[in-house]
Amino acid sequence: MTITLKSPLDMHLHLRDGEMLEQIAKCSSDTFAGGLIMPNLVPPVTTLDELIAYKNRINKATNDNSFKPYMTLFYKPEYNYDFLKSFGDELTAVKLYPAGITTNSEGGLSGFDIEVMRGSLEAMSELGIPLCVHGETNGFVMDREAEFSSIYAKLATNFPKLKIIMEHITTKESVDLLNKFDNLYATITLHHLLITLDDVAGGMLRPHLFCKPIAKRPHDRDALLKVALDAHPKVMFGSDSAPHPKHAKEACGCAAGVFTAPIALIALVELFEKHDKLDNLERFLSANAINIYGITPLEKTITLEKTPYLVPEKFGDVVPMFAGEELSWSLTSITKGDNA
Ligand code: DOR
Ligand code: ZN
Repeated sequence: MTITLKSPLDMHLHLRDGEMLEQIAKCSSDTFAGGLIMPNLVPPVTTLDELIAYKNRINKATNDNSFKPYMTLFYKPEYNYDFLKSFGDELTAVKLYPAGITTNSEGGLSGFDIEVMRGSLEAMSELGIPLCVHGETNGFVMDREAEFSSIYAKLATNFPKLKIIMEHITTKESVDLLNKFDNLYATITLHHLLITLDDVAGGMLRPHLFCKPIAKRPHDRDALLKVALDAHPKVMFGSDSAPHPKHAKEACGCAAGVFTAPIALIALVELFEKHDKLDNLERFLSANAINIYGITPLEKTITLEKTPYLVPEKFGDVVPMFAGEELSWSLTSITKGDNA
């Protein structure tokens, strides 16, 4: 049994920089036709020069012209129309982090004063640049995303022409928002489709599954699964694959992030097959993102077959999800099209 997937896209990806970028870039470029690259470097990506230099470092690390990095800028309310326009096609989206909410987000936004944000968000609306949002308040950890719903509603109603992507949603409340506001969309990770808080902390603590937003309750996961398996047109795959070195995960202050890039495609095929929804996988992995972002991805066809794959214990210095376990599908071939 085989399956072929056309131009899979990972619309939320951390590739890091320097040595880490060198170690893990190929994990994504081997299996995806492109990825939306998060800007939370140290310091974050905030200028055109930084963005282009980072894109070039990514291209050098992947050494693969069949993977396109779709670049993002770290949101600042000071951005104006001329500044954003100057990015032209180099910029795919702007990513908003509340200050201090997750890894390398210290320079993010403090407070959601619409008037402070108005200039930048109206400029993005006019230029057709989507806003990607890490939607968590600084409240109790299990409630942070649900508490953010009112901020999503405020953004969606004040900026009706702005495409707002709720990144890595983890709750039923966020799923419900998709049908309430035309201009809200969402990415969903692999790990939030598979685990709940019980998998992270219900038994022995499993640091490699610790991430932000933290995995929630079974009914939240069920709500995510439903829209992903149905390939709801407003959701798309975004792995939020977030590599940290092993020593930073297996530590007293464990860094947040699950490293899924090397196994994401295989595990998604396994999941969609288990639910008898393989026919919808290409929409979740590619077609929905093409429609939402208005992009034309590189042509790249990935073929997988149903033979077991033993997940390596490490990629470079990073422990992947399912390390040392067997998945039921393997990659067999990758075909690059004329434009790749
Ligand atoms: O778990 C996470 N890790 N969540 C994020 O939002 C950021 C990411 C990272 O950059 O490590
Ligand atoms: Zn992320």
